[in-house]
Amino acid sequence: MKYDTCITIFGGTGDLTFRKLLPALYTMSRTRKLPARSKILLIGRRDYDTASYTALARDWIRRFSRLPYSEESFADFAGHLEYYRMDFSDGTAYEGLGQAYEALQAASHIFYLAVAPRFFSVIAAGLKTISNLKEGKIIIEKPFGETLSSAKELNQQLESCFGPENIYRIDHYLGKEMIRNIQTIRFSNPVFANAWNGEMIEAVEISALEDVGVENRGGYYDASGALKDMVQNHLFQILSILAMERPGAFTSEEMHARQLEVLRALKPVAPEDLEQSLILGQYDGYRSEPLVSPESGTETYACMRLFIDNDRWNGTPFYIRTGKRTGLRETEVSVIFRRPDPETEPDILLIKIQPTEGIYLRFNIKRPGDSEEVVTASMDFCQNCILENQVNTPEAYERLLTACIEGERSWFSQWDQIEISWNYIEQLKLLAASRNLPLHPYLPGTRGPREAETLLNTFGHHWLE
Ligand code: BG6
Repeated sequence: MKYDTCITIFGGTGDLTFRKLLPALYTMSRTRKLPARSKILLIGRRDYDTASYTALARDWIRRFSRLPYSEESFADFAGHLEYYRMDFSDGTAYEGLGQAYEALQAASHIFYLAVAPRFFSVIAAGLKTISNLKEGKIIIEKPFGETLSSAKELNQQLESCFGPENIYRIDHYLGKEMIRNIQTIRFSNPVFANAWNGEMIEAVEISALEDVGVENRGGYYDASGALKDMVQNHLFQILSILAMERPGAFTSEEMHARQLEVLRALKPVAPEDLEQSLILGQYDGYRSEPLVSPESGTETYACMRLFIDNDRWNGTPFYIRTGKRTGLRETEVSVIFRRPDPETEPDILLIKIQPTEGIYLRFNIKRPGDSEEVVTASMDFCQNCILENQVNTPEAYERLLTACIEGERSWFSQWDQIEISWNYIEQLKLLAASRNLPLHPYLPGTRGPREAETLLNTFGHHWLE
């Protein structure tokens, strides 16, 4: 065999490849996470050859790589790259690809489908016709289909072509350092582990604010909206890790089963509770973004109040919010503990996911000196400040690609999780449409519509920052 692994990227000239995948692979080659004998085959329709593609890749890597660019390490990395020009929507083109694979003689294959879901079937079917192909893993990313039923169909097709154990579905939030850390914080500290229930926790807030708007993704985003783009996948992953029962072992199967239980226990929103469960917003100017309908009713902001119907969480609200153009990029989880009495401030545990990675804990003390007054004090642990002078923690895509090469499936989302979450959000969206739930405008640079704050205030809470 000439190569241990061949990583084929369908969509080799797309945004995801340039911004995320190539920079991640470059860093992996610098940190020796990319197997030395690996080939990266970039597939695209455009008229490049390997030399011109490599020159283009250099510019993107310079801009987006986590580790500083160096000529020497790029030269090393460039040795892995090969551009293969092909129209992957043409079933007859796979014969040529098969010959290219024959020449490469790789022991194993990874196929990254960095393309729209409508191309998944034709690529899967095309790959299936290549007879000499060694077993391969397929990586796909949301949206997994246009609708839940088309996603189900595609999923079945991919699973029957490659086997369910070879499908790796990326949710890049699962690759984030502090999201991986939630289970450790929860389960390795008795001080939290023993208080992690509705009896001790008054509310949980999951907030993912973004400064960016829809940028050049208006076409995709307008058909999706904040609920499907962020909540259904990334934020429900966080929710299920926060709320799950302790896994018997921290294996991918156990984690997955416990997370699934949470998603199954998510209480459907009753029609009469809709206004107190969901606030949708749209930033001013969204309808003039490229490829967005001038009459668009798509939400760029969502705030939710959800409940988990099980013994651990009965009665504890989980608030979720996410929005674009909120003037701030900040993702964090706040756990608000119950107060010993109404006059005392609650203890708060804040898990900072990004851009700062860290943990903040607020608690009560006696005011120093003669006073017996109770005041709050806090401890603020900034993880990335400590690591600043060392090599930063890996980017999500570096971890996920490495995990796929190593066959470590706990870093990926499973189909049944996706299906349950998708179904939940679809039902909620239908309910919102049938009840004409208002879409509140908000000014770019603000934290979203004020109705989202009012919703929490109604229940004695507020969004913590
Ligand atoms: C993507 C969404 O999945 O996540 C984007 O499609 C969003 O709309 C992005 O901006 C946020 O990711 P991150 O890593 O910047 O929080």
